[in-house]
Amino acid sequence: MNLLFVSSEVAPFAKTGGLGDVCAALPRALRALGHDVRIVVPMYPRVRAPGRTFELLFQDITVALGARRVTFSIYTATLPDSDVPVYFVRCPALYDRPSIYTQDADEHLRFITLAWAALKTCQHLAWSPDVVHANDWQTALLPLMLKTLFAWDRLFARTRSVLTIHNIGHQGTFSAQHLFDTGLGEVAHHFHQDQLREGRINFLLTGILYADAITTVSPTYAREICTPAHGVGLDPFLRMRGRAVMGILNGIDDREWNPAVDPRLPHTFSADDLAGKELDKQALTQRMGLPYDPRVPVVGLVSRLAWQKGLDLCFDVLPRALGRRPFQLAVLGTGEPKYEDFFRHLANRHPRRVAYHKGFSEDLAHLIEAGSDVFLMPSRYEPCGLNQMYSLAYGTPPIVHRTGGLADTVRTWNPKARTGNGFVFDHFNESGLAWALHYALDQWGDGHGESRASWRALQQNGMREPFGWQHRVGDYVAVYRSLRGD
Ligand code: ADP
Ligand code: GLC
Repeated sequence: MNLLFVSSEVAPFAKTGGLGDVCAALPRALRALGHDVRIVVPMYPRVRAPGRTFELLFQDITVALGARRVTFSIYTATLPDSDVPVYFVRCPALYDRPSIYTQDADEHLRFITLAWAALKTCQHLAWSPDVVHANDWQTALLPLMLKTLFAWDRLFARTRSVLTIHNIGHQGTFSAQHLFDTGLGEVAHHFHQDQLREGRINFLLTGILYADAITTVSPTYAREICTPAHGVGLDPFLRMRGRAVMGILNGIDDREWNPAVDPRLPHTFSADDLAGKELDKQALTQRMGLPYDPRVPVVGLVSRLAWQKGLDLCFDVLPRALGRRPFQLAVLGTGEPKYEDFFRHLANRHPRRVAYHKGFSEDLAHLIEAGSDVFLMPSRYEPCGLNQMYSLAYGTPPIVHRTGGLADTVRTWNPKARTGNGFVFDHFNESGLAWALHYALDQWGDGHGESRASWRALQQNGMREPFGWQHRVGDYVAVYRSLRGD
C-alpha cells in the first residue's frame, strides 16, 4: 500500500514527546513489511541540524489560504535506518520559530499549511496514497480536505483517511474568524455548525467527524475518551462514530530502545545479564552529581513537565518519603515553571539525594531509564505512554497510575506468584502514589539477598515482554486494509 503519514513531529528531526517517536517507528515498521510509506513534516530550524543534508524537491509551491498566499518548498531526506522518504515543508515565515508549538496568533496557519503541503506534494509527485494517516489536531483537517477540496483529483479517488488521536487534551480550537484563513472557507458548511455559531472551529473535532477510521494509542484510552470524564468535550462525537474508533497500543522502537545494543549507554545489559545495569547506575549517579550507593535505590523520572503527567502528587509525597527512607531521585524534564521550581527546590534541599536536570536530552533520558532502579510516571491521564515501556525494557519497574496505556502495560508485582512488572495505583491522589512508592521501595529492600532475587524476577518479567512495533504494526495494516475493502 501507499501510505502517507502527516505529523507535526518525527524523531529524530523534531520531537517534543512520544508523537515524534511513534511517527518514526511506525512508518519504519510498515516499511519493513514492504509498504511504500512516506512522511510529511514541517522543516523547523532544529531539523536542519549540522551534518544533515536535504535535497530540494519542489520549489515555491503557492496555496491561497483565504486572502493570504502561502509559499513553501519541499525538501527531502530519508528517515535514518530506513529508506522511508521524509518530505520537509520549508516555509520560514511559519516554521522558523524557537519552538515546534507556539502561542502565536497564526498557529492554525502553521499547521493547516502542513496539511495543504502534504496533499500538494502528492500531486506534484503524481503519487496516489491508499491511506493518508493524520496525527493529532495539527493534521486533523486532512480527512475533510480529501472529501471536499481535493475530491476532484482522481489521484485521491481511492484514498482513505485515518486519524490517530495521541492526546485529546490538545484539540486545535481557534476563533471561527480564522476559518477562511485555512483555505476551507468554501466548505464551511462541513464544519460543526453549533461550534461555528459559538464562534469556534475545532480541528480535532473536524477530523473525528470526517476520518474514515479513528484510532487512539491504547485500548483503555479508546474506551476512556468515549466517556465525559476523559473525552474533553469530544466524547459525544466519538460515541457517534462507534466502531470507527479503535485503540491500538503503541510499540517501542527496539533498535533505539534496547539495553542490549543501546549505543547511548556506557554499559549494555540484558534480562540474563544485568551486570551492566549496575554500572549504568554508577554512571548515572556520577553524571547527575549524586553519591553512588548500591544499597540505595534510584528512582528515575523523564517527562514533559505538564499537568497531564500528574506531578502535582509529588509535591506532597516526595518530600515526605525522602524524610522517611533512603532513596535517590534522578529527574529530567522541562515544562511548566511550577514543576521545574519544585524539582529545583527539592534538589537544593537534598543535594546528595535528588538531582534535577532541566532540559531535553536523549542521552540522559536513556541513561536514566537504564541506571535507575524504579521509574516514576504518575500521569493524571496517559493516552499510551512510551516511557513506562522503555523502563520495562530496561529492567526499571515503573510506578504508574491506572489510566490509559499505563493500565494496559503495567501490572502490579505479586512477589508470591512472581507475576506483574511494576506498581500500579488506582486512585489519583497522594495516598495512591505514596502506597505505590513505599510498596516499590519495600520490594527493593536493601537490594541484596532475598529481596534481590525477587527484584530480579520482577525486572525480568518486564524485560521479556514483547513491546516492539513488529508486534503492533499488523493492527494498523488491518485498519488500512479494511478501509480499502480488501
Ligand atoms: P508524551 O508523548 O506525552 O510526552 P510518552 O511517554 O509517550 O509521553 O513519550 C515521551 C517521549 O519523550 C519519550 O521518548 C521520552 O524519553 C521523551 N522525553 C520527554 N521529556 C524528555 C526530556 N526532557 N529529555 C529527553 N527526552 C524526553
Ligand atoms: C502523546 C501521549 C502519550 C503517547 C504519545 C504517542 O504524546 O501523551 O501518552 O504515548 O502521544 O502516541
